[in-house]
Amino acid sequence: MRTRIGPAQAAWLAEIGVDAHWLGLLTEPPAPVARAASPPTTQPCASPAAGPDVPQLPAAPEAATPPLAPPAADAADGRSAPAAAPEEADRSRASTAELPDLEALERDILACETCGLHAGRTRAVPGAGRTEAPEYLIVGEMPGAADDAVGTPFEGQAGSLLRAMLACARLPRADSVYLTNVLKCRPPGGRAARAAEVAACLPHLRRQIEILRPRRILVLGRVAAQALLGTRATLDELRGREHAYALSDGTAIGLWVTHHPASLLVRPALKAQAWTDLVALARAVRGPAQPA
Ligand code: URA
Repeated sequence: MRTRIGPAQAAWLAEIGVDAHWLGLLTEPPAPVARAASPPTTQPCASPAAGPDVPQLPAAPEAATPPLAPPAADAADGRSAPAAAPEEADRSRASTAELPDLEALERDILACETCGLHAGRTRAVPGAGRTEAPEYLIVGEMPGAADDAVGTPFEGQAGSLLRAMLACARLPRADSVYLTNVLKCRPPGGRAARAAEVAACLPHLRRQIEILRPRRILVLGRVAAQALLGTRATLDELRGREHAYALSDGTAIGLWVTHHPASLLVRPALKAQAWTDLVALARAVRGPAQPA
């Protein structure tokens, strides 16, 4: 199949290290999306006008990407609320009322003093996004400086890169994601998480998963992956395949691991690997491509 891409797309492909091999992956005819009722994507990489086999990539990763989880906080109760379209906001508020456990958990997180991190935080950052049957729970390591200031996750550069890559891989719709971290409080200066801090905070994340019951979990980086999977395996050992996250009732949620976007900002050469992971995840979600 021939690939037709514009200069801006080529620049972005070069930026993330995508070569002809990955273009081959990208340009396979997309398999039918599992949920037929889903509205058409509004992600910047997908352009119905260009046809389904031409990947539409953003000229600049940060420019046209819709927020995964808008940073708006619900003034009434102080918790974060996903809201792109007004009707989505209404739906979210309705679902929040149906999730008293999540509200209680967020109150616990905001007041938590289990480890020493509470002393240095501006705000605890419980999480933000879709609370009603999210398609994805995305788990990072810890709040960044901007997140600590406003109380919602992935506000900074790493979040912008994450949004761009998810959109280009045509992963979740912007309004179907809940974002959170292993640590709910930012360590001083953003230093590395300590094992005792991870152990103290992990029960919050496990409770979030039990309450939210996302369809899938995408874990960013080694610290979060090792914590959630209870393993000392390396990131490379964990990437590229589906793991099972077991809920307390015995059901399992598919869990995928990739590089943390903050690592990608520091080591851009890893972007191609992250892209590979997201393409593999997208394929697993959509099923194998159908022969033409
Ligand atoms: N912001 C977050 O919320 N989490 C990260 O892991 C990095 C930045």
